[in-house]
Amino acid sequence: MTQDELKQAVAAAAIAYVVDGEIIGVGTGSTANFFIDALATIKHRIKGAVASSEATAARLRAHGIEVYDLNDVASIAVYIDGADEINATGAMIKGGGAALTREKIVASVAARFVCIADASKLVDTLGRFALPVEVLPMARAAVMRKLTALGGQPRLRLKAHSDAAFVTDNGGEIIDVAGLAIVDPVGLERTINQIPGVIAVGLFAARGADVCLLGGADGVRTLTF
Ligand code: 5RP
Repeated sequence: MTQDELKQAVAAAAIAYVVDGEIIGVGTGSTANFFIDALATIKHRIKGAVASSEATAARLRAHGIEVYDLNDVASIAVYIDGADEINATGAMIKGGGAALTREKIVASVAARFVCIADASKLVDTLGRFALPVEVLPMARAAVMRKLTALGGQPRLRLKAHSDAAFVTDNGGEIIDVAGLAIVDPVGLERTINQIPGVIAVGLFAARGADVCLLGGADGVRTLTF
């Protein structure tokens, strides 16, 4: 099976976690896109969705799924999203698709976080994937110095084929931090959150996944945390 087929398989399996009549939180990325396409086939069963990015909102609308502003929603039954890495306790690195801040906000409102990922995303120790940190542009250099002091190698994310900084849906910039072996994900999330100028860190540890549907050659495995 290709990686895309594995992503498609976990996206299809996640439909079982959709709660009828409810508003669903929807993540961002290629795995989330497969989930949106699967969700479209049962859209009559849900009230609508809250999107974690402009790209996700556009894809949901293109399928005729109503997109709600989070400010108009008091509760979300389930949030379904991919990850760049996940460990055995359900802590994740996210933000490869630059949507980490809105993903974290929408996930914080959801009763349940279902992570959908191909088996390559399961790791013993988080950090091989460079940790994304969204920052206010004016704080970029100051935050990079602090991240270096924490032992990382920070690098500003650039727009494809350009020397200009990549700009998020929120007007922030992304610093990708390589070289971290994250043995204490909750502690590092707290530490980075406290750096002035940080909008959000792509460590989802204090609020990690509740369930992970992991796609491998032998099918979809369900991990619960
Ligand atoms: C976007 C994310 C994605 O969930 C993460 O990057 C995984 O993406 P993909 O499903 O394309 O592998 O955090 O900000």
